[in-house]
Amino acid sequence: MSQTNAELQSRKDAATPRGVGVMCDFYAARAENAELWDIEGHRFIDFAAGIAVCNTGHRHPKIVAAIRDQLDRFTHTAYQVVPYASYVELAEKINARAPGDYPKKTAFFTTGAEAVENAIKIARAATGRPGVIAFNGAFHGRTLLGMALTGKVVPYKSGFGPFPSDVFHVPFPNPLHGVTTADSLKALESLFKADIDPKRVAAIIFEPVQGEGGFYPAPAEFVRALRKLCNAHGILLIADEVQTGFARTGKLFAMHHYDVVPDLMTMAKSLAGGMPLSGVVGRADVMDAAAPGGLGGTYAGNPLALAAAHAVLDIIDEEQLCERANALGDRLKAKLDELRRDVPQLAEVRGPGAMVAAEFLKPGSTEPDAEFAKRVQTRALERGLLLLVCGVYSNVVRFLFPLTIQDTVFDEALAILGDVLKESVEVAA
Ligand SMILES: Cc1ncc(COP(=O)(O)O)c(C=O)c1O
Repeated sequence: MSQTNAELQSRKDAATPRGVGVMCDFYAARAENAELWDIEGHRFIDFAAGIAVCNTGHRHPKIVAAIRDQLDRFTHTAYQVVPYASYVELAEKINARAPGDYPKKTAFFTTGAEAVENAIKIARAATGRPGVIAFNGAFHGRTLLGMALTGKVVPYKSGFGPFPSDVFHVPFPNPLHGVTTADSLKALESLFKADIDPKRVAAIIFEPVQGEGGFYPAPAEFVRALRKLCNAHGILLIADEVQTGFARTGKLFAMHHYDVVPDLMTMAKSLAGGMPLSGVVGRADVMDAAAPGGLGGTYAGNPLALAAAHAVLDIIDEEQLCERANALGDRLKAKLDELRRDVPQLAEVRGPGAMVAAEFLKPGSTEPDAEFAKRVQTRALERGLLLLVCGVYSNVVRFLFPLTIQDTVFDEALAILGDVLKESVEVAA
């Protein structure tokens, strides 16, 4: 007899640790573009896309073909032992397309956390300084340095310390929760007075749109001020584009929305459409600061993942996915804005392009309503729509549908979302 979800669930609980928290109690059998089927044949519309990894959808035929073709040639040589052209060629493409008209270099790794760690290593090597500044609500990964940089304790940091030192946090601008750009800049000033001399700071790392923290876009004047501060003190500015990259925000990189450029930028997730690949791009002189052998990893720049990444860049261009992100994001935002009349908990709809979030507060207050967000997520899942919750208060629903989603499937999802939001109000009343 074939396996059931329930059977696998009890085997999972016995065989794997609870620390690997799992959202769904059903098991994937197959997926195609924006749809996913479990082992019992239930269908789901996937508005999670593997946490922002499948901007080009599940199993895009061009990505599948590129991986197959590479599979027939070789799967692993370790780039640091026997190099291959696809690594160099992808670096050239990223160098040409990342923001900044200065000479650039790119190194590839495997996970987002690794890209972040390496960006910090490079910044420290280039400046000879130890300090790193990150922001409250930031998420930079689950490695020790990634956790140290992450600005949310539960569940990411609980019980895992001590963390690497010389990492500092200041508030990220968040008007809905009463933090202005001026407040954040003042906190930086006070950090330089109370905790660390700016001349000992190697880098400031920020997300152009905070991802796990709640889809809060960094205000343009804030990013400009960070650039100015970095210039004044010889600090490197690192944009963490792990979640924002590859057309999600309506531009190839979210930093393209700003009139300032970072010195280093991290990327991962949708870079390789479902294959594990990450990278750091930056000023050539900065990238060259680490000595030979200081960067890399056994699997860093895996050939199958690189083949997929080349296909991803082609698909983004050919299918005009930046334009599509804007069009779909606008439709979703219009639908949510319309629903605000009937859903008093829906306090804010925001986000550039298709990096859209809906934040829920208790009606008539500024108190986060995590329960409402959870209810929307649970009811949507019962109706076959996979949604993710995020935010420091877990009161934000984020929408990460593949940008290749068919219009009919997108419309179906919007209809479910409308029903579910209205039903959730009735339950709350
Ligand atoms: C902005 C950002 N940085 C880093 C990471 C860590 O990436 P990974 O989970 O691939 O290590 C994430 C993951 O969500 C992220 O959103």
